Amino acid sequence: MAAESCKDWVLTVTAQTPTNIAVIKYWGKRDEDLILPINDSISVTLDPHHLCTTTSVAVSPAFTHDRMWLNGKEVSLSGGRYQNCLRELRSRAGDVEGEEKGIKITKKDWEKLHFHIVSYNNFPTAAGLASSAAGLACLVFSLAKLMNVKDDHSRLSAIARQGSGSACRSLYGGFVKWIMGKEQNGSDSIAVQLADEKHWDDLVIIIAVVSSRQKETSSTSGMRETVETSMLIEHRAKEVVPKRIIQMEEAIKNRDFPAFARLTCADSNQFHAVCLDTLPPIFYMNDTSHRIISCVEKWNRFEGTPQVAYTFDAGPNAVLISHNRKAAALLLQRLLFHFPPNSDADLNSYVIGDKTILQDAGIQDMKDIEALAPPPEIKDNIPAQKYRGDVNYFICTRPGRGPVVLTDERRSLINPETGLPK
Ligand code: DP6
Repeated sequence: MAAESCKDWVLTVTAQTPTNIAVIKYWGKRDEDLILPINDSISVTLDPHHLCTTTSVAVSPAFTHDRMWLNGKEVSLSGGRYQNCLRELRSRAGDVEGEEKGIKITKKDWEKLHFHIVSYNNFPTAAGLASSAAGLACLVFSLAKLMNVKDDHSRLSAIARQGSGSACRSLYGGFVKWIMGKEQNGSDSIAVQLADEKHWDDLVIIIAVVSSRQKETSSTSGMRETVETSMLIEHRAKEVVPKRIIQMEEAIKNRDFPAFARLTCADSNQFHAVCLDTLPPIFYMNDTSHRIISCVEKWNRFEGTPQVAYTFDAGPNAVLISHNRKAAALLLQRLLFHFPPNSDADLNSYVIGDKTILQDAGIQDMKDIEALAPPPEIKDNIPAQKYRGDVNYFICTRPGRGPVVLTDERRSLINPETGLPK
């Protein structure tokens, strides 16, 4: 990378923002530019220790244009969505005084100053996990801190929303609702926190990153095609989701897992049903996704009460939310039984994130996976099928906190001398 020396000062801020998984899905826009949805949605924020974006932003009079590097590669900021976020932030920026460097930036200066933005995900981008939500939320959050934007998280969520709809829900930890709003200018289409991550900290989340060769339809174009062609989407947005939102808020408030699981699974299934009702039909789930659903459904039915909820976004990966640690360990045993790793894999990279779930499941090495007995609910179907290699890896995690500023200079991704990525 060409070294550009900054004759003047460089001011930086670094922040970390989580990703989120919707349990009542956002699918369909009523305004494509402002990113206004056709229904409310609810999500769970995932623990940033396991899935998050870290972004450093810098401003300097020596920068000649806005630049961004994502996971080590320079990317263009010319897209309308980035430009909308930057314009909104510049219009809300405040005065900034940097203590040591004698920096003074007034509100008006922000119109002329340029940014360098360096962003990294702590999970593989290729995994197909929603990285845009954490990425856009982090960009807006870190720039807002740098520019001394005084707006609260809800107002910031309305800016992040214009980068990517689901990003607005990553401005909070725990359980979050994106209110669709009624205003044409989108001012009331914001995220609010329903409960923080400590409210329901028994929940354990296991993500199965499923192998897929299929080129997926992006959420943006997929939901546009659904709104244009599906007859079911209007019924979903107007009749089904409003009732589910009320029930889901109640389930979260009361930590009512059976209701939470029933609503989460039903809403994921209906989202994929409207995808199938799109012309041409959109298939996000694959055979492995369907097998995971059937494994969970069989087990839940066998127990008589739900142990695990499943939900799938615009791809084949399964997000499985278990009632508590015990249920998560039993779930992991079932998943490893049906989806053992290829013989050349190692356990440390096959199950990542919170490894204590692996210990709870009594799995110490690969031999323990091979020795797993079939779960009781499939005893009468012996020989049970195994699908070796159909899951790339599992991530064990939990509900987590919202965005934070990282004050430790060593965590910055920008060289304070050059203003370029470290
Ligand atoms: C299936 O937020 O990625 O994950 O607003 O066009 O950027 P754009 O779409 P995006 O869509 C996410 C859709 C979803 C469901 C959800 O997160 O609610």
